[in-house]
Amino acid sequence: MTTRAAGAARGFAASRVVTCGEQGVIENGVVIVDGATIVYVGPRDGAPAGVPIEELGDRVITPGLVDAHTHACWVGSRHAEYAARAAGRDYREIARAGGGIVSTHRAIAAATEEDLAAALRARLRRMASLGVTTVEVKSGYGLEPAHERKQLSAIARVAREPGIPAVVPTLLALHALPPSAMAGGASGRAAYVKTAVELTREVAQDRLARFVDAYVDENAFAAAEARAVAEAARASGLGVRLHVGQFADVGGAELAAEVEAASVDHLEHVSPAGIAALARANVSAVLLPIASFTLGQTPPPVAALRDAGLSIVVASDANPGTAPTESLPLALSLAVRTYGLTPEEALLAATRNAAASLGLADRGVLRPGARADLTLWDLPHEHAIVQPWGVTKTYAVIIGGQPIQGP
Ligand code: NIG
Ligand code: FE
Repeated sequence: MTTRAAGAARGFAASRVVTCGEQGVIENGVVIVDGATIVYVGPRDGAPAGVPIEELGDRVITPGLVDAHTHACWVGSRHAEYAARAAGRDYREIARAGGGIVSTHRAIAAATEEDLAAALRARLRRMASLGVTTVEVKSGYGLEPAHERKQLSAIARVAREPGIPAVVPTLLALHALPPSAMAGGASGRAAYVKTAVELTREVAQDRLARFVDAYVDENAFAAAEARAVAEAARASGLGVRLHVGQFADVGGAELAAEVEAASVDHLEHVSPAGIAALARANVSAVLLPIASFTLGQTPPPVAALRDAGLSIVVASDANPGTAPTESLPLALSLAVRTYGLTPEEALLAATRNAAASLGLADRGVLRPGARADLTLWDLPHEHAIVQPWGVTKTYAVIIGGQPIQGP
C-alpha cells in the first residue's frame, strides 16, 4: 500500500466491516477515508462512485484499537524478578526490598530523554503493527519531579512524530515512593505527596499530560493521599485515572467516584458498594488481564461490573514488571479466556469503550466524521481477533488516514 496525499479519497471493501457503533456489522461493507477522516461506512452499493476501492476479500475491518492503559515509556529489564516471581517470590516483597517500580526508576533516572524516546518510539511502532492506533502512555517511573518531567517530555516528543499511534499522555503522579522520600519516614512521605500535587499543577500548565493517575493500594498510596493529586488535577482541568484494587480494596473506587474519575484500572479487589459508586459516577472499568495473569491472581468480579452497567475497557498495561508485553490483542485474548468477556465485549472494550474512557469521541467507532484510524485484519471474522495468536494478524493499519509502514 502506498502513502497518498491528504485529501485523496480511497476506500476499503471487506466481507465484514465491524463498526463497533450504531451500524453494527456490515457484511460486504466499504469504508472510505478522505485525508484523516472517514467519509463513508456502509454497503458497497451505497458507496460514492469514482473512489478507488481496495478489495480485501474475506477479511475484517474494525476501528483501530485503543490501548487505554500503558506504561510504555520505560527502559531496562526486570527479567530476574519475573523469574523469581514465577518461582514463588511475592511481587510486593520484591518491591519492599527495593525492586519492582523502584528498580525501573533507577534505569529511568540514568537514562536520557532521547533514550526514553527511542524505547517508546520502537514500542509504539510495534503496537501499531498489532492493530493499535491510539495509546495512553503514563509517566510514573521517574518518581522524582525532574525524571517525571523527562519521561513526559520524551512522550511529548514521540507523540509529535508521524507513523505511530496517537498518544494520550498521563502523569502518573503517585506510583511508588522514591528512595529519597523513603529515607524521610512519615514526613518524607507527606512531603512527597505535596511535591506530587505541585507537579500535577505544573504539568497541567505546561500541557504535558491530559490525565493524572495514582496507585491506590495497600502497598502504594492511601485514598487520602491520592485525593490530593486528584483534586489538584481536576482543578487544573485534567482528567483522573486511578490504579485501584490490584492487591487490596483501600477505598479507591469510592475516591474515583467522588472525584469523577474517567477510569479505575485493575479492580481485582473492589466491594459491591465500590462498584455501585463507580456506576453512579459513570467511571469506566479498565481491566488488565495480562497483569493478573503474570501475578497469578483471581480475576476481578467481571459479572458484577457488567451487571452494574459499567463501561468495560481492556488494556495491555504494558510495563516492565507486571505486564511485560506490547500486545493489546493478547490482553483481549486473556480477557475472553480468563475473565469471561464475550468476543463482542472484548472488541468494544478495546475500541469504543476505550476511546470514551480517554474522552476521545472521534475514534473507536467506524462512522462518517470519525478519525481515519482503521485496522484491516487478515482474519475472516472478528471473533478470530481474540484468539491468542502471538503474532500480528493485521493486513494493514491506517492511522489518521495514513497506512503505517511496519515496525
Ligand atoms: O499497572 N500497579 C502498578 N503499576 C503497574 C506495575 C508497575 C511495575 O511493576 O513496574 C501495573 O501493574
Ligand atoms: Fe498500570
